[in-house]
Amino acid sequence: MTELNGKTAFVTGASRGIGAAIAVGLAEHGADIVICDLAREADALARVKADVEAAGRKCWSYDLDVTDKAAIEKVVADATEKSGGIDVLVNNAGILKPATLENLSEADWDAHFDVNAKGVLLVTNAVLPQMRSRKAGRIINIASIAGRQGVPTQGHYAATKATAITLTRVYSQEVGMDGITVNAICPGIILTEMGKNNLGSQEAMDHWTNVTALKRLGDPKDVVGPAVFFASDLSSFVTGQALNVCGGIYFH
Ligand SMILES: NC(=O)c1ccc[n+]([C@@H]2O[C@H](COP(=O)([O-])OP(=O)(O)OC[C@H]3O[C@@H](n4cnc5c(N)ncnc54)[C@H](O)[C@@H]3O)[C@@H](O)[C@H]2O)c1
Repeated sequence: MTELNGKTAFVTGASRGIGAAIAVGLAEHGADIVICDLAREADALARVKADVEAAGRKCWSYDLDVTDKAAIEKVVADATEKSGGIDVLVNNAGILKPATLENLSEADWDAHFDVNAKGVLLVTNAVLPQMRSRKAGRIINIASIAGRQGVPTQGHYAATKATAITLTRVYSQEVGMDGITVNAICPGIILTEMGKNNLGSQEAMDHWTNVTALKRLGDPKDVVGPAVFFASDLSSFVTGQALNVCGGIYFH
């Protein structure tokens, strides 16, 4: 498939789960891919690189913590030089460590905001200048339906994802004049390491399967189609939007 031929996409937190599926999925639709993740995920990241290359596309991979501004700027500069320019940015890296708000440590509050909210800001600001100068670009923020409606034990996480949706709306208005679109995807329950840890038990899995209109939970590949849509010209007049990709759990 060719929707993204000639484009380069940069995906954070790409060693597994939704990030890995999007990296390989965008490659299967024609994009060359820059992948990055924490240094401790190097082996998994190497496997994703091999999958992108097996799809016939170029792939550059980097150790990168999205809370480290200096490292982000270095990686973006190097990836830009090697690839010829970043056309699509997918801010996917994220963490979730459940806790009730009363029992949440200050350190965990800060860690969630550092990765899930500030990470979006830092990586986006590092990539934007080249998109502005080319008068084109696509930015996709992986938020969550939790960001639309908080649930118990995820108040801090939900607040970071609400922030990601707000950043999406504001960036879209600040960069739209340069031909750049900014949209968010709000996954429901996707069976990744994070999704499975979050559910915790077979009982919870059965409950949420039953609550979901499509009577199944999500696979990381379920997020690929919406990502291709937002990354490509198929969505040229769509910006500042947040799309629920949840099989029908949440309807607003
Ligand atoms: N799985 C779900 O049910 C679900 C639902 C809604 C939203 N999401 C969001 O989707 C995104 C991907 O989640 P997933 O389910 O694939 O989770 P995951 O835990 O399987 O993957 C998250 C990835 O982010 C990376 N990461 C964590 N901290 C990082 C940092 N500081 N710098 C760089 N990379 C870092 C991890 O190493 C990992 O590769 C996250 O933003 C998550 O909040 C997931």
